[in-house]
Amino acid sequence: MAKSPKKVLLGVTGSIAAYKAAELVRRMQKKNWDVWVVMSACATQYVGPLTFRALTDHPVAHGSFAELEQETYTHLGLSEGAAAMVVAPCSAQTLARLAHGFADDVLSCAALALDAPLLVAPAMNVRMWNNPAVRENAATLKRRGAIVVPPGTGELACGDVGAGRLADLDAIVRAVAKAIGER
Ligand SMILES: Cc1cc2nc3c(=O)[nH]c(=O)nc-3n(C[C@H](O)[C@H](O)[C@H](O)COP(=O)(O)O)c2cc1C
Repeated sequence: MAKSPKKVLLGVTGSIAAYKAAELVRRMQKKNWDVWVVMSACATQYVGPLTFRALTDHPVAHGSFAELEQETYTHLGLSEGAAAMVVAPCSAQTLARLAHGFADDVLSCAALALDAPLLVAPAMNVRMWNNPAVRENAATLKRRGAIVVPPGTGELACGDVGAGRLADLDAIVRAVAKAIGER
């Protein structure tokens, strides 16, 4: 009997790189993973949930619990059975949220309820990325076993040059594959 595809949960947060998450969905689907998307409220200002719903054919939970239109325990259902969760792009705000165990939106609750590898791919301005608070949050997550896919270096959307670009999408896919025991 054919194995059912592995469920991979993609968290999308409020970074200008959020538009790249749509292509990331496609590349993950090419690995035959069943991709579900959860978004921060802020991320929905950059890309519409409908984009991800159309790409994944799954409902897209976003924001806080007051806004949920799906099942009551969406945050638990999202992480249940997931082979991995990857937050890409991961904003400085969400990095802090995850590092400190905050549970104030559906994305952070899903991450807390996750019983599988957590990957984060930070994307932000170079000065933000170089801020010790941001680095400490990344280090905290790493220490706890999360996989940090470091940002790339180059020209940033704001015009600055330096580290902070969302990592190459294929590098993110490779990191997820490795985390779930695939090549
Ligand atoms: C145009 C614009 C672009 C932004 N890009 C980023 C970004 O790439 N990375 C980041 O960490 N924050 C960025 N921010 C700030 C975040 O959107 C803000 O911190 C927000 O609270 C993140 O919330 P979230 O983590 O809940 O999505 C940007 C803000 C604006 C106005």
